[in-house]
Amino acid sequence: MRYGKSLLAAVLLAMVGTIALTGCGETGGSNPTASSPATPASGAKEKLVMLTSPDYKPYEFPDPANREKIIGFDVDIANYIGKELGFEVEVKGTDFNGLVPALQASRADFVMAGMTPTPERQKNVDFSEIYYEAKNTVFAKKGSKLITEDDLIGKKVGVQLGSTQEGYVKDLKDKEKKNVQIVSLNAIPQIIQELKSGRIDAAIVESTVAEGYTVSNPDLEFHILPNKGLAGSAIAFPKGSKRVADFNKVLQKMKDNGEMKRLVQKWFEPQ
Ligand code: ARG
Repeated sequence: MRYGKSLLAAVLLAMVGTIALTGCGETGGSNPTASSPATPASGAKEKLVMLTSPDYKPYEFPDPANREKIIGFDVDIANYIGKELGFEVEVKGTDFNGLVPALQASRADFVMAGMTPTPERQKNVDFSEIYYEAKNTVFAKKGSKLITEDDLIGKKVGVQLGSTQEGYVKDLKDKEKKNVQIVSLNAIPQIIQELKSGRIDAAIVESTVAEGYTVSNPDLEFHILPNKGLAGSAIAFPKGSKRVADFNKVLQKMKDNGEMKRLVQKWFEPQ
């Protein structure tokens, strides 16, 4: 009888524990260091919040058919990882500059935003392996003859606030003492607008992104810059997250089974 009571108590306690855990959930990132996703007791799939900066076609951008929905290369990768690890992905958007602070405040479970794992960011968040390598370009109006780094001297150069491209131009100015004027803007579409209206002379933008925008803006062109430092994309997590290893395993699987290549073709090399 006694045994029965304590067993009942143990079962009750376990239930309360489960409810408490699913209750705070990981969606708000309130428990970002928890291990691999488990299926909640309710049987519903666990939901992880992916935060991104949806101004970065083809990595992440509003679906033209439904602007509430964010689609792109990063979203497809996240959904594949979710399928493999048994969680659902909820994609939310914010300004690029706010992504790392959001992870630090546990307002998301992970960030995918074509984000480069710089040593500076690594102080505040953890990163997966790099899943895609990119190149920077000088992006400007057609015929402006702005091609190399030195062509930017004396010019107004637009970059996304908080990006590695901003770091690139800051280094040109502060370390290499080149006279460039930095114009930091929140989102890529703003940079495009400023370029087209002539309020900035050029911008530093990743080749894959610039390519997409030249299709819809034939008055713009880009020239690839030699790589300086890091330029790859990785998934960012709150510091100490135990999810990194599981995500890395799936990224490796995607590289091995051709899924990554398929997604690169789908988004970066459309027919
Ligand atoms: N790769 C660059 C960085 O890490 C730019 C990324 C911008 N991403 C975006 N979704 N707007 O800073």
